[in-house]
Formats: sequence, structure tokens, C-alpha cells
Amino acid sequence: MSLKLDFELTPDEQTDMANIPAEAWFTQVRFRNAISPRHPEANALDANHELKRKLMLPWIAAHVKGKTVLDLFCANGSFSFEAMLAGAKEVVGIEFSSDRARCAQFIASIFAGKGAYRPPTFVVGDVYELSRIFQEPFDVVLALGGLYHVPDPPYVLTQIRALTRERLIVQTSSVLSSRGNWAKFIVRHDRRGNGLTSIIGGRGAWYYTVGCFENMLQHAGFKTVESCRPPFFMRRRFPWYCALAEPTTAPR
Ligand SMILES: C[S@@+](CC[C@H](N)C(=O)[O-])C[C@H]1O[C@@H](n2cnc3c(N)ncnc32)[C@H](O)[C@@H]1O
Repeated sequence: MSLKLDFELTPDEQTDMANIPAEAWFTQVRFRNAISPRHPEANALDANHELKRKLMLPWIAAHVKGKTVLDLFCANGSFSFEAMLAGAKEVVGIEFSSDRARCAQFIASIFAGKGAYRPPTFVVGDVYELSRIFQEPFDVVLALGGLYHVPDPPYVLTQIRALTRERLIVQTSSVLSSRGNWAKFIVRHDRRGNGLTSIIGGRGAWYYTVGCFENMLQHAGFKTVESCRPPFFMRRRFPWYCALAEPTTAPR
């Protein structure tokens, strides 16, 4: 399922859209009269997006209205736009890949001067540099589909905590099915030489149990208020954990 935006593109905008590399369209976008280029792995990405949207939209709808929102690991901005449509006051997305951030900026440009929405802005940057890039906290921080890309989730979560005023909405993959507080570290290899951003961003990644991830949240200064996972029969394909968390301690 793609992101649906109820706007028409002009012929020039359609040409600009077609010139953005297909790999930058992490989430496909359907406008009223046009569809974005299809990512080479669109089948898998569409299924991920559909499930993530189903799990995350209720929290986004309930918590971002009138708030400032930071969307980490934003790719081409699908959840930044969902936050905007849900009534966020201001949305900033940050993404490592300049092509994806440029794609997000293109989508944002479609909203300029149309309707009541204030389009998100996008920053090319690394979540390891959060404290250097942002000086002021945001009311709500989204970290969807990203923390399993980084080799140092507790460090990054601590930086996220310093930028979170009210709520963190987090979704992570690579969750182990065992119970308890366990993790394993995997070195990643770019065997096909695709220059995958997940590898550029960190050549290793932790796989962790729900208990381990919850300890990382607690260590960073978050209290889990609600959590959810995909239905049991889907967890082999989608080994995910999602949490709505609130800050507990003063930022470090
Ligand atoms: C799996 S996608 C998730 C996109 C979106 N948040 C979603 O859930 O649909 C993860 C994104 O994080 C980006 N990324 C990976 N490591 C990063 C880092 N260290 N800093 C910023 N972005 C990073 C990748 O380029 C990729 O676009």
C-alpha cells in the first residue's frame, strides 16, 4: 500500500517526479493523477508499509495534533506526511540518504501554497549527530524502522531522549522471539554491492529480545506507556516491536 495524497501534479511536477531515482521512493506515493516510480523492492516494502501504517497511525493520530514532531530515519518522508495530515504544528524529518531526503522535499513542495498544511522540512543527516544538528527538543519523536540499522541503539536512544519533550513513538525490527533479556551482534556485509544505506549507516546491528529493547528504552530515560507487536502468525516475517514511550528522567 502506498501513501495517498489527494493532490494533483502539474505536468512539470510529473516530469520532476519521474526524474527522481526509483530507489529513493522507499514508500510509493499516489497522487490524484499520478503515481511515483516503483522501488525495485517495492513488493516487500509495500507489505512493510501497510502493516506499519496500521500499527502506527492510531498513536500518530492521538498524539501529534498541534505538536512539533521529529521523524528520525524518515526515508522519503511517508510518516512525516502522515504526521502533517494528522495535524502536527511542525514536522522535521532526518534521513541519511540525500536522494531519499530530496525525494521527501519534492513531495513537500507539492503542498506549498495549497490548503492548510504546513509541509515538513527534511534534513540530510546521521542520527549519531542528533545533538549537533538539533538544539531544541520536539514534542513528539518518531523512530520508525531505524533503530535496527544502528550498531549503538542505547547511545542513539539517549540522544533521542534529549530531544523528546512528551512522547516517543518507536518501531523496531530484528526482534528475537525468545523471552528474557538477550541480544546478538551481527556484522553486515553488502554482498551485492548495492551501497545499502543500512550498511553505510553501521556495518553491524544488534538483534534483541523485547525485554532487552525495553531495558534500552529505560536506560535512555523512557517509560513504555503502551506497546504492540504484529499478530503472532506474522512475526516470522515481521519480527517487530512497537512502543509509545514517555520521558522519565531529565535529559542527560
Ligand atoms: C527502514 S527505513 C524506514 C523509513 C521510515 N521511517 C518508515 O518506517 O517507513 C530506514 C531509513 O533509515 C535511514 N538510515 C539508516 N541509518 C541511518 C542513520 N544512521 N541516520 C539517519 N538515517 C539512517 C535509511 O537510509 C533508511 O531510509
